Amino acid sequence: MRVSVLGLGYVGCVSAACLASMGHEVIGVDVNQVKVDLVNGGKAPVVEERIGELIAEVVRTGALRATDDVREAVMGSEVTLVCVGTPSEPNGSLCTTYLERVTEQIGAAVAERGGRQTVVFRSTMLPGTCLNLLVPILEKYTGGTAGVDFGVAVNPEFLREGTSVRDFFDPPKTVIGELDPASGDVVAALYDDLPGEVFRVPVPAAEAIKYADNAFHGLKIGFANELGAVCQALGVDSHQVMDVFVADRKLNISPAYLRPGFAFGGSCLPKDLRSLVHAAHRADVSVPILAHVLPSNSDHLQRAVDLVERTGKRRVGLFGLSFKPGTDDLRESPLVELAERLFGKGYDLRIHDSNVSLSRLIGANREYIETRLPHLAQLLADSVDEVLEHAEVCLVGTRDPAVLAALPHGEGPLLIDLIRLPDAETRRTETGYMGLAW
Ligand SMILES: NC(=O)c1ccc[n+]([C@@H]2O[C@H](COP(=O)([O-])OP(=O)(O)OC[C@H]3O[C@@H](n4cnc5c(N)ncnc54)[C@H](O)[C@@H]3O)[C@@H](O)[C@H]2O)c1
Repeated sequence: MRVSVLGLGYVGCVSAACLASMGHEVIGVDVNQVKVDLVNGGKAPVVEERIGELIAEVVRTGALRATDDVREAVMGSEVTLVCVGTPSEPNGSLCTTYLERVTEQIGAAVAERGGRQTVVFRSTMLPGTCLNLLVPILEKYTGGTAGVDFGVAVNPEFLREGTSVRDFFDPPKTVIGELDPASGDVVAALYDDLPGEVFRVPVPAAEAIKYADNAFHGLKIGFANELGAVCQALGVDSHQVMDVFVADRKLNISPAYLRPGFAFGGSCLPKDLRSLVHAAHRADVSVPILAHVLPSNSDHLQRAVDLVERTGKRRVGLFGLSFKPGTDDLRESPLVELAERLFGKGYDLRIHDSNVSLSRLIGANREYIETRLPHLAQLLADSVDEVLEHAEVCLVGTRDPAVLAALPHGEGPLLIDLIRLPDAETRRTETGYMGLAW
């Protein structure tokens, strides 16, 4: 393919050189004449392992050349990769100025050339930037319609500086946010011979995936460093601890606990986080990440209360009360906390949890419910239907099959899904359904 790469910084330069070495015909563009001259002289404008040899080779064979003229580059290619910088503004917001300018230039060149161009954004940008900001610019300058007259895709970059050439040829994954299948096909063809799983997703999801990755990487490093500092203060070798920690591929380094759902609770997590943070503070070790896990959890729980408030309804049903399925343990259950916040705000509440009803019947946990939660005990309903008949809005916090089977579609009480119901994907488009964080 004939490919133009706009922006010859770390991302653009590595993409341009690697694509050229895969047999594509590549023109790199930068507003910085020094970078253009370096590439044309067979030299790398950035310091990266292997990039010097690669650029020297692809420039010698004619597979890569550079210019400062966006118009010339776009007109001489059918795919344009946008790799310009998206730095932070002083207030932390994303600077899209370079993206906007270069998109205007691309639009003008596409209008002049005619034919279907596919514009692929590799720069990191917040969800919505492509469809709400850049596509309108392209449509204005080309006079055409995105997905019809020209293609648009978002293809975020996951390579690490320092080893980016190696990572390019062995990527952790390829993410293609496609406006239409034809746009996605062009990007997929560009990386045809590369290993790794390819994910084709809607454009805003591709934009968000890059942020999920980088936020998680930062969070992991911060977590490990805070834990290291606490261990050090307690006289424990943090590397010994983390060696064992990372060896656990079932619960630690795994997909466990990584799907948005309801707040956590139970008899261990809150207690152990509290005592760890307390120990850190006693040792004068600052642990802002660890110290904010419980407040974050509490804010997440509050989102459910806010959703109920937003409906303006007063008669509320709650399915689920114990802290997780298959147990009647109510200690530190986030659903008990939710019920108490709603009760405290004067909502007319009915609650059903088959495990809790059963334990009341057989006497187990009875004392706990009747002495510690007498106000909630009187709200417990023995059947699912009793709650559905009472409620104008229902919170679902359990996967109990009897509850799932009885939940209405589109009519009856409004549903607030706390746990991502198994049919949430279809329910999301139904009126009367609200997901807690999806
Ligand atoms: N550096 C990384 O490791 C990395 C990794 C993944 C994603 N990203 C993202 O990729 C994007 C680019 O990052 P980078 O580190 O390569 O940035 P960079 O600042 O090194 O390079 C950007 C280049 O774009 C050029 N440019 C700006 N406006 C232009 C225009 N109108 N026409 C042509 N060229 C223009 C600049 O002169 C500069 O050389 C950013 O959104 C960044 O967040 C970077």
